[in-house]
Amino acid sequence: MRKILVTGGAGFIGSNFIIYWLKKYPGDFIVNLDKLTYAGNKDNLKEVENNPNYRFVKGDIADGKLVESLMEGIDYVVHFAAESHVDRSIIEPALFIRTNVLGTQVLLEAALKHKIKKFHYISTDEVFGSLALDQQDKFSENTPYNPRSPYAASKAACDHLVRAYNYTYGFPITISNCSNNFGPFQHPEKLIPLAITNILENKEVPVYGDGLNVRDWLFVEDHCRAIDLILESGKIGETYCVGGLTEEINNLQIVKKIIRILKKDESIIRMVKDRPGHDRKYAIDWSKIHQELGWQPINGFDVWLEKTVFWYKENQWWWSKLKSGQFKKYYEEQYPDL
Ligand code: NAD
Ligand code: TYD
Repeated sequence: MRKILVTGGAGFIGSNFIIYWLKKYPGDFIVNLDKLTYAGNKDNLKEVENNPNYRFVKGDIADGKLVESLMEGIDYVVHFAAESHVDRSIIEPALFIRTNVLGTQVLLEAALKHKIKKFHYISTDEVFGSLALDQQDKFSENTPYNPRSPYAASKAACDHLVRAYNYTYGFPITISNCSNNFGPFQHPEKLIPLAITNILENKEVPVYGDGLNVRDWLFVEDHCRAIDLILESGKIGETYCVGGLTEEINNLQIVKKIIRILKKDESIIRMVKDRPGHDRKYAIDWSKIHQELGWQPINGFDVWLEKTVFWYKENQWWWSKLKSGQFKKYYEEQYPDL
């Protein structure tokens, strides 16, 4: 039995990962450390909450004493916990530095002290900066860092810190830089769930700027399989880029696809003021993880998008709570044009 400390496991990707892992490795034990910020949601984990091999701990990754106590007997750390939304990082950058950078350092220090066997850090392709729309290159493990939002800068700082623990102390780390994830249990502040749930509620869908910004899109379950492969067979000290099977698709095209799936009218789209410093394009070359570990996405974007839309359609109980209360205030401030 392996004992794994997952941080941020009540968030979108972390909760999908815990469900995935306990299904595939029912003999392993998972401790989930999560502060339950606005983005953390125990509803995501209903499927495992009574599993005797699962334990939830409410707490902060920057709390050294707590983190130290939880490291006892841990084999692997899989570190997801973070402030993850670019728009919020523009409003409150200090919180991103505290949680993402300082929190990661606290975890690294405790994990080093306890001689953890593997520490996997979940990073993002946003550390590489932005491509031009007509540029054919893609981000890879060799792309120089050029983060441009407070969020991306905080994640880049962590990549450097995690690598520094490897070089300096010989600490066994791996890193994955993945593209935009989508799928079940993603907070409706992010583009795809926001578009789906707004359409389901007959509300306008805000699209920033000219809507031509491009992202690479990775289905969350494909991402979980990539992390699994890296933990099982990845080379210590290495970074792996992970992306989707996406033809180049811009935000406006994505929203139009969702509208088509839900059989609604395109008049529901509302072009709004652009995000400051909005990165134009991300594209990711995931040939290293494909060649070295045999990973590739199971389906293309359209198949996964349709599944995702149906999940939100069938699980209104999950997201309707999230769109009231605190989020309503954020939404009104973020989208004054709506
Ligand atoms: P999320 O915002 O849905 O979840 C983050 C989780 O971390 C929440 O459960 C929250 O409660 C928890 N958390 C926040 N601060 C904490 C703290 N101080 N201590 C303990 N827990 C804390 O994020 P996500 O989309 O699941 O992303 C997970 C990781 O993957 C993040 O590190 C993010 O940067 C990275 N990532 C995400 C994407 C994406 O598209 N979602 C893409 C690339 C990388
Ligand atoms: P988002 O889901 O916030 O992820 P990220 O900023 O990390 O890429 O945004 C994805 C894209 O969608 C990005 O180009 C910004 C755009 N976007 C909108 O056009 N409208 C919105 O309301 C949101 C939240 C995002």
